[in-house]
Amino acid sequence: MRARTVRHFGIDNPSESGDIDICSCRYLYVYTYRYLDICIPNNIGVFDMRLAITNLKGGTGKTTTAVHLAAGLGRRRRTLLIDADPQRSATEWVFLMGDSCPFALVTDGEPDLHRRLADVVRGYDHVVIDTPPGYESIVRSAVLSATDILIPIAPSIMDINRLRPTLELIASLERLNAPSIRLLLTKVRGNTRTGRLARETLETTLGMPVVAAEIPLMEAYVTGFGLVPPEGHRYGAVLDELLKAEVAA
Ligand SMILES: Nc1ncnc2c1ncn2[C@@H]1O[C@H](COP(=O)(O)OP(=O)(O)O)[C@@H](O)[C@H]1O
Ligand SMILES: [Mg+2]
Repeated sequence: MRARTVRHFGIDNPSESGDIDICSCRYLYVYTYRYLDICIPNNIGVFDMRLAITNLKGGTGKTTTAVHLAAGLGRRRRTLLIDADPQRSATEWVFLMGDSCPFALVTDGEPDLHRRLADVVRGYDHVVIDTPPGYESIVRSAVLSATDILIPIAPSIMDINRLRPTLELIASLERLNAPSIRLLLTKVRGNTRTGRLARETLETTLGMPVVAAEIPLMEAYVTGFGLVPPEGHRYGAVLDELLKAEVAA
């Protein structure tokens, strides 16, 4: 059974976290759903990982990460990618891949996704959710739907400074859902110190878990839009790490 704990990373809980009335229908529903999820997973769709790719900042590599990881998971087991971004970049990418796409897609950028999740993901083993920048209500719903959250972040001071709203949003929902959270360094320039410095800052100074594998800044990720992501490589290593952690949990 998965450990459902999350660290606060030094960020105070917004008041919402302390004010939840778990007897209200809305929260009772969430808790009932979680109970079913933990106790009889085979009865509501056999899914192992519900991975939300989030960062309220745009352009950090969320869609690229979501499509690559969904492809990797889809080669192993039945996988659904939920495109929750109203900009629909992932949907466009999947459309261009055509029949060779190794996973299924649902375009669903509604803030009540978590309430309908059991129906949406029925029949799939793994679920990846691509989320938009901004649109906090949609991101909130994706966080409530997730067992795991991966936050792609470029190794720059600006990106690290802009991380706080995303972490606060996740922390504000901790009482309702406490997925495991990891950061993924993306767009890392080769032969520079930026990746190492960013990792050090995130891990040591902020105390946050960062995936060991990193995604380099590469033209191939830009020109790869619309193509089936290749097997293995860096995102393969990321996936191996996530799945290993999943088995250990
Ligand atoms: N590792 C990478 N190296 C170079 N360009 C990248 C990389 N990852 C993503 N990109 C490019 O950066 C832009 C933003 O990426 P995207 O995945 O759409 O981010 P988001 O979904 O967070 O807005 C896109 O043009 C994409 O092709
Ligand atoms: Mg995107």
